[in-house]
Amino acid sequence: MRHRKSNRSAMIDFLLISSIITLTAIIIITISITGQFKFQKTTVAATANPNVEIPSLIDITDSSFPGIEIVTETSINSLVPYTLHYPKTPFDSVNEQIKTYINDSRYNYITALHNRNEKNKVKTIGNLNITSEIHEYNDQFYSIVLKNESSLNRLTYEESFNTIVFHKDTGNIVHPRELLNDDVGHLDVLAKAVRAELLRYYNSSLNEGNLANATSPRWEKFSRFAIIDNSIVFYFNQGEVAVKDVGSPTVTLPISYLNPILASVFQSEEKSEVTIVTPKENKKKVALTFDDGPHPKVTMQILNTLEKYDAKATFFMLGKQVEKHTDIAKEVVSRGHEIGNHTYNHPELTKQSTSQVQWQVDHTDQIIFDVIGEYPTVFRPPYGAKNQHVDSLIDVPVIMWTIDTYDWKHRDPNKLLPAVKANLHDGAIILMHDIHQSTADGLESVLIYLQQEGYEFVTVSELLAEQN
Ligand code: NI
Repeated sequence: MRHRKSNRSAMIDFLLISSIITLTAIIIITISITGQFKFQKTTVAATANPNVEIPSLIDITDSSFPGIEIVTETSINSLVPYTLHYPKTPFDSVNEQIKTYINDSRYNYITALHNRNEKNKVKTIGNLNITSEIHEYNDQFYSIVLKNESSLNRLTYEESFNTIVFHKDTGNIVHPRELLNDDVGHLDVLAKAVRAELLRYYNSSLNEGNLANATSPRWEKFSRFAIIDNSIVFYFNQGEVAVKDVGSPTVTLPISYLNPILASVFQSEEKSEVTIVTPKENKKKVALTFDDGPHPKVTMQILNTLEKYDAKATFFMLGKQVEKHTDIAKEVVSRGHEIGNHTYNHPELTKQSTSQVQWQVDHTDQIIFDVIGEYPTVFRPPYGAKNQHVDSLIDVPVIMWTIDTYDWKHRDPNKLLPAVKANLHDGAIILMHDIHQSTADGLESVLIYLQQEGYEFVTVSELLAEQN
């Protein structure tokens, strides 16, 4: 019995000891597990430190765009949650730019969360969600839009966009300069249009000072854009131009509207009636010219008629006439007309010696300069008589005419207009003389007709500038 008892007691002892060992083991394991949990929790705080890499689950799937995959990174740390969706393209330069943005966004989020928790001594759970969209344009370009939504607690919400536009075959990244053909004039036009749209849509929410800065015509201000459904969308950060409540402002401008300022590869075939700049009005132009003056009565009458129709003309003056009627010459200039040299006393230059031609031109230049303070800008030879030698002696444009009114011959005010009508064309240079009363009297009918026909009256130099 005793033996049995002792056996039993040995059994009990064994059971007791094993129970103790088991319990101790359980306790040790439990403690170690609890400790590990605790340790993990501190690791959580430590991993919330942006300098420590947070491991994430990575999933890769195909997108509906050939060659482009969608990467999804999900945080496995429940206190620092995030989900990052972004494309992976066949191009390293594109991927690098995307990856930099993704990593920076994650770093900034973790830093902000870490700082906030350090400061407030409480643990808040934030969230970071990056989603992406891909858009194709013209079978040539891909636009990737990355939307970043983050919060550090339930009360804060930030959103921002980043974009990358690249050629789908070469992977070349499109910068705003290429979009606008590297034309700062175009950038200026775009900046004004974007500002106007922001004013229209976000009116009362705008911060005017920030708006002017954010839409100043500098390339980097327009670097976030995407081509979506035949429009170009420009993105601004939350709080950049408007109050935070409105989120990230965007401006969408149809490509057909932007066509005139876009580089040709980005232009749409669809044409719009309304565009960002009105095409330069191609008005027909005519240059009226008056020779042999100035004349005290006729020239003044002509100046008054021209003024009535807001017409600018060119007066080819003789040096000897300018000497006689300096006040008239000055009046011609003060009314905005152009002055040409028509020699001193109207000789046929082709029959003059080189020194005579030089004197005719230079002496008249000097007289005109002395009277009006400027040298003549154009020259017309008397009788239209010129040759290569004469031309070579003159260093301003030598101007002939395309329509001769024969006003010097018929001296009839009623014959001036028919002579103009007979040969009228865009870019015409009309020859008249401001020394015949009949010309001054017939001029108004010519101006009325030309104006009705849609002609603009320009000086000879303006016409030349137009043609070059
Ligand atoms: Ni003449």
